[in-house]
Amino acid sequence: MEQNKRLGDISWQDFKALSVVEKGSYCQGEPMHTLVAQQFSRAQLQELCTLATRIKRICKRRAGANFLKTLLSDKRAMLYFAQPSSRTYLSFNAACQTLGLDTMDVRDTKTSSEVKGESPEDTLRTFSSYADMIIMRHPVGGFAERVAWMLAHTNREIPVLNAGSGADQHPTQALLDIYTLERSFEKIGGIDGKHIAFVGDLQRGRTVRSLAWLLTLYKDMTLHFVAPEPLQIGQDILDLLDAAGTRYVVTQDFAAVLPVADAIYMTRIQDEWDVDGESSTIDTSSFSIGAEHMEIIKESTVIMHPLPRRKEISTDIDNDPRAIYWRQMRNGMWIRAALILTTFGRQAEAHQYYDDYKPQN
Ligand code: NCD
Repeated sequence: MEQNKRLGDISWQDFKALSVVEKGSYCQGEPMHTLVAQQFSRAQLQELCTLATRIKRICKRRAGANFLKTLLSDKRAMLYFAQPSSRTYLSFNAACQTLGLDTMDVRDTKTSSEVKGESPEDTLRTFSSYADMIIMRHPVGGFAERVAWMLAHTNREIPVLNAGSGADQHPTQALLDIYTLERSFEKIGGIDGKHIAFVGDLQRGRTVRSLAWLLTLYKDMTLHFVAPEPLQIGQDILDLLDAAGTRYVVTQDFAAVLPVADAIYMTRIQDEWDVDGESSTIDTSSFSIGAEHMEIIKESTVIMHPLPRRKEISTDIDNDPRAIYWRQMRNGMWIRAALILTTFGRQAEAHQYYDDYKPQN
């Protein structure tokens, strides 16, 4: 991937027309933006995972936690969440606090001047006057890209982190999912060569769309997309997998996938995108997991979910060691801290502290 192209050097029309992979090459400059999953290389994922674990270990001791809080105490973050969020918002906020960043937020556009008719662009430009980084979730697909591009054409180009955009991208969820898979498969050869099953609303689930791409960076993978036909994964993702040479299976047969999957990534029906309640007419009853399936899956298989869940995972299996969605959620805080620190280019200081003090576990 070509590096260090600058958003400030390209027109919006030209940028918009780029493929998602090409767009990724505009995120790595100065400042670093996190807009699409396609911007990451495997080496970067590895670095972020290592840093996340080190931050977590440093944080265990009070002296370490105090040290971490000095790293970005000169920075402020704006959390702009124009869509509902619990985990992503809270884990980003906690990640900022871990690194000493002060945070401000708008979580409901009714409380911002957007109700007075201000354009979303002007609203975001306003945030950039007070903050050193914008972490944003927005219902409009591609809006985080637009904001990063827009700020690159002002004198306040600050990093933009996409915390979920429309039904298309959720790059930081994909990072925490990779971190969770890395840790889960640490003792069984890592992510390479594994079978990953995605189940549920794959058409409109942005977490799946972002994670499927990151998995193309690993060797000899097989992705299984398990969904009722109207909710199947988009052709654009399958085209990306084809181009990357990643093997995949598109199926409705969950029972056949259960015994071969190394990870089962469940998702809820994303009916907030329905035009006319169409999801309610789709039979999703066979795309859920419960106690009766735990006999069939392998001992080493992990069950994941970006959450929130509805009925697709029975609470009966919450205490099975293979149900790792609560741990997965907590991982989000550490990988987001690693990403924020890397965004500001301060990761070397955390590595130095780790090497000097060697915190255990
Ligand atoms: C996901 C999202 O917002 O896309 N949630 C999350 O960030 N953990 C998944 C969902 O809402 O179903």
